[in-house]
Amino acid sequence: MSETTSARETWGTRLGLVLAMAGNAIGLGNFLRFPVQATQNGGGAFMIPYFCALIFLAVPLMWCEWAMGRLGGSKGHGTTPGIFTLLWKHPLAKYIGVLGILFPLGVVFYYNYVEAWTLAYSFFSLTGAYFGIADVGSMKQFLNTFQGIGSPWHVSPMGYIFFLITFGLNIWVLSGGISKGIERLANIGMPILFIFAVLLVIRVFTLGTPDPAVPENNIWNGLGFIWNPDFSQLTNSKVWLAAAGQIFFTTSVGFGAIQCYASYLREKDDVVVTGLSTTMTNEFVEVILGGSLAIPIAFAFFGRAETLSIAQGGSFNLGFAAMPIIFQKLAFGKLLGTMWFLLLFIAGITSSVALMQPLITFLKDELGYTHKKALAATACLTFLMAHIAIFGLQAGALDELDFWSGTFGVALFALAETILFVWVLGPDNAWAEIEKGAQVPAPRIFYYIMKYVTPVYLLFLFVSWTVQQGPDVLAMKGVAPADQAWRWAARLALLGVFLGLCWLVSKSKRLKELTEAP
Ligand code: ALA
Repeated sequence: MSETTSARETWGTRLGLVLAMAGNAIGLGNFLRFPVQATQNGGGAFMIPYFCALIFLAVPLMWCEWAMGRLGGSKGHGTTPGIFTLLWKHPLAKYIGVLGILFPLGVVFYYNYVEAWTLAYSFFSLTGAYFGIADVGSMKQFLNTFQGIGSPWHVSPMGYIFFLITFGLNIWVLSGGISKGIERLANIGMPILFIFAVLLVIRVFTLGTPDPAVPENNIWNGLGFIWNPDFSQLTNSKVWLAAAGQIFFTTSVGFGAIQCYASYLREKDDVVVTGLSTTMTNEFVEVILGGSLAIPIAFAFFGRAETLSIAQGGSFNLGFAAMPIIFQKLAFGKLLGTMWFLLLFIAGITSSVALMQPLITFLKDELGYTHKKALAATACLTFLMAHIAIFGLQAGALDELDFWSGTFGVALFALAETILFVWVLGPDNAWAEIEKGAQVPAPRIFYYIMKYVTPVYLLFLFVSWTVQQGPDVLAMKGVAPADQAWRWAARLALLGVFLGLCWLVSKSKRLKELTEAP
């Protein structure tokens, strides 16, 4: 097989690439996870560790991942088993690279199901299915029934049907490939997402005081509630870890998904400005738009104490139980509700296709599969594994997948890729790779950040997460014995997929040739 990219697809246009990469990053994390994390971790003060993580972790890692991906793609290797072997000609490199396919899969095993809820709730908003349910507690009950919690089947017919539709839509998009599938979705979906988000923010800002009898419950106090800084929180290491976790989740660095998209760049394409603009787009959507929606409006309707308790109940509580109550109190509530959940759905699907693409690219690049065969294999695996998240939802299988892939996994993977790209390739070579084709040079300070600060920061995170959360998660502390089986299923699934991928990697002639090449 040829060592060059002649047969590889590329992004159709630069705007399409930016929108697809922004879609990869902008997801449920921006609108649901971020406001809850900010509220729980010191409000405005949370933005200090958040921006530190953005500058010292996300920006340098993003540039490394874009450059690594473009380098790999230029040699016909679009995923990290091949990319890491290019950086380090050691037989172990390709096995470390397996993590860059495993972790996106670990997230997508549950992400597709949550995405399905957003599609279902768009439909419920349009048809008014939940209209008439008057309080957050009853709305939670509605959500639980929809999720199948408490039912002997652990899933509801409606929940499963919407999962099938969502999954089918993902596969349909992926069947079009990079430019005719993913890029087309981004070209259509992202402008809609921006318009919906801006319209909803305008609606929130023009709301004023919904109940004149309780004047303190208004939008401005709601914005104060999320943004007023509580600096005392900054001495708490959990806040710093939460901020770094949010940055990883929202920017999608540390998964292997960015390298895969970047492998479809042309060799001379700029990564410095394009990469930074997608990261900044994600930040604008998260901080400005995401921070102005769910929490401030919840405050204006429910007041301080109840909003705090809703946020403490988690992101799903806020998005799927509190927001539907609010829509019922607004004029054009059905329309606004449909917009909110469709916005989440678009944010979700543009991220989930990005999380499935690495396996497809790997099978095509390293094992010579056709697109159809690679897609079929990826579809079968993700479909099967999603059932662990579906049936094990009540038992916490979703949290288990999320911890190992989305917390422990990303810190481990980001550390490995930084060492390989910056230290094994050499800091000057890595920097030159980033600067290749750059329209504007990257600020030199990032050379030093990437060389020293990012690896140390990552090491600190990896050790802290492993020490603080690892033992409790590993021992399943506080998990009822009846729930442990599903959590074990989630772990074994990840282990099984890891071993399966290692086996495939060991069978790849292209990877073998690459290791042996001078
Ligand atoms: N970056 C994606 C999100 O924020 C995974 O949901």
